[in-house]
Amino acid sequence: MFLCWCLSLVALIPLTTSTNPGVKVKLTAKGIEYGRQLAVASILQKLKTIKLDDMSGKVRVSWQVKYSLTNMNMVDVGLPTAALDLVPGTGPKLSIVNANFRLHGNWRVRYRFVKDSGSFNLNADDISFSTSLSIKTDPTGRPAVSSIDCGANVGKMSVRFRGGASWLYNLFKKSISSAIQKAMQKKICPLVANAVSDLNNNLKTLNVLAKVDKFAEIEYSMVASPTVSNTSIDFGLKGEFYNTGKHQEPPFSPAVFSLPPQINNMLYIGVSSFTIESAAFVYNTAGALSLYITDDMIPTISPIRLNTRTFGVFIPQIDQRFPGLMMKLLVKMAKAPVITFEPNNATVQSFASVTAYAIQPNATLTPLFVLNLVSSVGARVFVSGTRLAGAVTLSKMDLTLGTSDVGDFQVGTLNSIFQTVLNFVVIPTMNVQLAKGYPLPTLGKMKLVNTQLLVLKDHVMIGTDVQFTG
Ligand SMILES: *[C@@H]1O[C@H](CO)[C@@H](O)[C@H](O)[C@H]1NC(C)=O
Ligand SMILES: *[C@@H]1O[C@H](CO)[C@@H](O)[C@H](O)[C@H]1NC(C)=O
Ligand SMILES: *[C@@H]1O[C@H](CO)[C@@H](O)[C@H](O)[C@H]1NC(C)=O
Repeated sequence: MFLCWCLSLVALIPLTTSTNPGVKVKLTAKGIEYGRQLAVASILQKLKTIKLDDMSGKVRVSWQVKYSLTNMNMVDVGLPTAALDLVPGTGPKLSIVNANFRLHGNWRVRYRFVKDSGSFNLNADDISFSTSLSIKTDPTGRPAVSSIDCGANVGKMSVRFRGGASWLYNLFKKSISSAIQKAMQKKICPLVANAVSDLNNNLKTLNVLAKVDKFAEIEYSMVASPTVSNTSIDFGLKGEFYNTGKHQEPPFSPAVFSLPPQINNMLYIGVSSFTIESAAFVYNTAGALSLYITDDMIPTISPIRLNTRTFGVFIPQIDQRFPGLMMKLLVKMAKAPVITFEPNNATVQSFASVTAYAIQPNATLTPLFVLNLVSSVGARVFVSGTRLAGAVTLSKMDLTLGTSDVGDFQVGTLNSIFQTVLNFVVIPTMNVQLAKGYPLPTLGKMKLVNTQLLVLKDHVMIGTDVQFTG
């Protein structure tokens, strides 16, 4: 009975939906240092806007001294020492020590029958605060940061008064220091939380659904919360191409891959062969991987023409039965291409059918034969702007006969024709598309600099520094 109950419980647990990421992003210490500079600049801006509310108080010195402080404004703020350290499993921790500020304000006092007033400058140079940053996934799959466990301490201050009688302000000097100290201490953490949450405005610009063209878009949402080690923060993104608006899963899924422990760049982006294969699947499903080839697409310098005379040289029946006609080829993918990434070697193997037609004088297409074309191309992969682009060259081609309407012939004799067609028409057409590139995951107006790309086992790795422009 107990066993039954346990088994039925197990059956109720949904299948784990832990998806392997198709794209991985690693933020290194160098990237985190850049993040630290941005965070410190943002906190500094916020601190400068601190305005303390007017305060008033009483001090008893045989008689009551009533004072009030008004118009208190921050004159200067300095954050000379800020560190952003990674706490494995938790997140980055921002610690600031020796922060300082200068405040200017007015004072007014009543003591027995005396009224007096003036201004004051207050210097504080022993301020420290620290906060941990939690990085989670928001409902749209973008990272979201928040400040947790913030603590602030405002140390000793010195006050300098102007105007008025010194015996008078000396009476309440101590108590205003401590009032301002308390007020400042209360302000710092909410303000830090505010500055941190402002970072989300940038993170919200992550292109979780990047439009490619009329056929495709790429999903870059995070598949899990990022992992924090002592040297990097690692993000797993879906990295999958979909037909625009139609998210149908392909019959394959991402394999596990890991980025090598590089540290020279701020950011490493690993794009798996899965991501590229999902692109091939999408374009193939959308019917975008087929191409009609006509004679005018073949450069005039080529002696090989798409007509029954050229083909007749190799298959005499064609010239005999269809003399003096132009021809047309339809190249169509038979299944999605296979992409292989090996160290320094990106190869795409594709499986296509080629149907050859004679074009009758009345424009009717008469099918002549169908060939199976298996070809391998070597790919050069590169980054162009914030896009991943490529260029391919033919490395191998294999033709076999599918069906023939013109009787038997030796397929091998057509090799040179099809090599010409691939090299002069199909490959250049592909390269025009590939050169346009595919958007990488980006934030806002992010510019990639010092970018390099390596082809590794099962993925390409882009190492890059980033700059934010405006
Ligand atoms: C980081 O953690 C690894 C183990 O997880 C450890 O071997 C290494 O010494 C740590 N590095 C630093 C700089 O703390
Ligand atoms: C690249 O890999 C393919 C197979 O994946 C192989 O046929 C080809 O020879 C390799 N090229 C180089 C230059 O190593
Ligand atoms: C076009 O011409 C071919 C060959 O002469 C003929 O078999 C076919 O019926 C014609 N088609 C039309 C639509 O006229």
